[in-house]
Amino acid sequence: MKILILNGPNLNLLGVREKSVYGSRSFEHYLEELKTAFPDLELDYYQSNIEGELINKLHEVGFTYKGILLNAGAYTHTSIAIADAIAAIETPVIEIHISNVYAREEFRHHSYISKNCKGCIVGFGLEGYRLGLVYLNNFKPKKLG
Ligand code: DQA
Repeated sequence: MKILILNGPNLNLLGVREKSVYGSRSFEHYLEELKTAFPDLELDYYQSNIEGELINKLHEVGFTYKGILLNAGAYTHTSIAIADAIAAIETPVIEIHISNVYAREEFRHHSYISKNCKGCIVGFGLEGYRLGLVYLNNFKPKKLG
């Protein structure tokens, strides 16, 4: 069961960036914990600061993988192209945000991608990725395996 965790812009700086908002742990470190916690899942990880690379990755895995956890970072609030890519693929996408975007600036309250996602997990810190995997681990897709 292949699952992709896809992180967008500035999320390579987790653990360094605005620690009061995003915490002090690097994603790579947390990913090792996730792999240990979900030994039956084949977890792939990809991060890019470039919108088109995120879209290419969605196209690449979006017809074969069981699920995608996507934290599109600030592209969440700007990218019709990423929203269209999610609509174009078959693999269910779960939108993740580490911070509670609804408790932050107004411009973070709107997501272009939510309506094309299976669901959204917002504001639980890095734990949100684990919650997404719990869901996908039990999810029985119609066509994808
Ligand atoms: C974020 C929230 C976005 O508004 C922000 O631009 C990010 C991170 C989050 O995980 O809380 O880069 O997606």
